[in-house]
Amino acid sequence: TYVVTDPCVRCRYTDCVEVCPVDCFHGGPNFLVIDPLECIDCAVCVPECPVDAIYPDDEVPADQQDYIALNERLSRQWPVINRREDPPPDAGEWEGVSDKRRWLEE
Ligand code: SF4
Ligand code: F3S
Repeated sequence: TYVVTDPCVRCRYTDCVEVCPVDCFHGGPNFLVIDPLECIDCAVCVPECPVDAIYPDDEVPADQQDYIALNERLSRQWPVINRREDPPPDAGEWEGVSDKRRWLEE
């Protein structure tokens, strides 16, 4: 499966969701996740993300391993999102900021 990681937090550009052939993105207030039971590993979402937040689960950076379980858990909690939405107004200011987990709103 593919996993949405830290760079997405507070950026939430949603470019990724429209290309997914199986609607496995689920959206929260300032972050998205991928449902690992639905993802078919097609990888088409990866180049769509302007902040390179999407990784295959076996390539998730060592300091972001907890995002694998976060995607699994929050995909059961949040609704499917398959249409682009406006990003947060300050999304640009959060690009390149690392370790944004503490701002992830559930
Ligand atoms: Fe959807 Fe394919 Fe990305 Fe999985 S890898 S989330 S199936 S676009
Ligand atoms: Fe997040 Fe990138 Fe999609 S910022 S919403 S993973 S396009």
